Amino acid sequence: MAQRITIQLLLLLAWVAAVGGARTPTVRARTELLNVCMDAKHHKEKPGPEDKLHEQCRPWRKNACCSTNTSQEAHKDVSYLYNFNWNHCGEMAPACKRHFIQDTCLYECSPNLGPWIQQVDQSWRKERVLDVPLCKEDCEQWWKDCNTSKTCKSNWHKGWNWTSGSNKCPVGAACLPFHSYFPTPTALCNEIWSHSFKVSNYSRGSGRCIQMWFDPDQGNPNEEVARFYAAAMSGAGPWAACPVLLSLGLLWLLS
Ligand SMILES: *[C@@H]1O[C@H](CO)[C@@H](O)[C@H](O)[C@H]1NC(C)=O
Ligand SMILES: *[C@@H]1O[C@H](CO)[C@@H](O)[C@H](O)[C@H]1NC(C)=O
Ligand SMILES: *[C@@H]1O[C@H](CO)[C@@H](O)[C@H](O)[C@H]1NC(C)=O
Ligand SMILES: *[C@@H]1O[C@H](CO)[C@@H](O)[C@H](O)[C@H]1NC(C)=O
Repeated sequence: MAQRITIQLLLLLAWVAAVGGARTPTVRARTELLNVCMDAKHHKEKPGPEDKLHEQCRPWRKNACCSTNTSQEAHKDVSYLYNFNWNHCGEMAPACKRHFIQDTCLYECSPNLGPWIQQVDQSWRKERVLDVPLCKEDCEQWWKDCNTSKTCKSNWHKGWNWTSGSNKCPVGAACLPFHSYFPTPTALCNEIWSHSFKVSNYSRGSGRCIQMWFDPDQGNPNEEVARFYAAAMSGAGPWAACPVLLSLGLLWLLS
């Protein structure tokens, strides 16, 4: 009898070890979701301190994926970064433009977007972000502040006329108030960069959504958000405890 239990225990231990071993790659992938830079056009290879980040990019200066140069360029109208012209339908209102600058700072500087990085087959970058859960207030304010500005497209990634070197409205795309192309905050934030964002139902300060704007004196709130989603995505949900619970159950049966 004692011998049989010993064999069962050995089988059990072998099984637990096998399950644990099978999970190892997942655990390794998960650590790479935190404190990383995407492989794109201007990102640094690894995040690190950048004391001299410019104006709106300053919140990231303790740990950033952008260089000082990138942070300066992020504040220009048609910068060398992407030659993208915010003023494609007349001058964009400064209150609106500051959100696009902040969006650029987040995209270029944040080391906390790892959980949403995807491989892409694009000439100008190897990776992008998809469905970053933007805090709903950040999106609502963006939409409200762009109320008086105009545009001619709802997806700003594709379909421009680039023959002049910067983006111009394609023939037939009329310049209309933002709200004609983006009827809701969600339409703006989700559609403008081909679903790079997916507006969250969570609020700023919840630790469950990415903040485009934050006060660095309180630390970077997006670190916690990335940790939360990285853990959720690598399967550390309720089922992660399964092997442990099964083992305990078996041990109880054997005792
Ligand atoms: C940033 O670097 C690019 C390429 O080296 C250069 O053309 C540009 O002038 C620089 N921008 C600033 C603000 O220094
Ligand atoms: C946006 O501006 C229009 C007028 O251009 C106004 O009717 C509307 O109430 C404004 N909406 C918001 C959300 O501010
Ligand atoms: C693109 O813009 C140029 C002028 O910059 C114009 O000559 C050309 O017809 C435009 N092409 C399209 C497809 O809109
Ligand atoms: C979003 O949150 C509000 C209030 O917190 C809640 O009433 C609503 O049902 C939520 N919507 C979704 C889609 O989760």
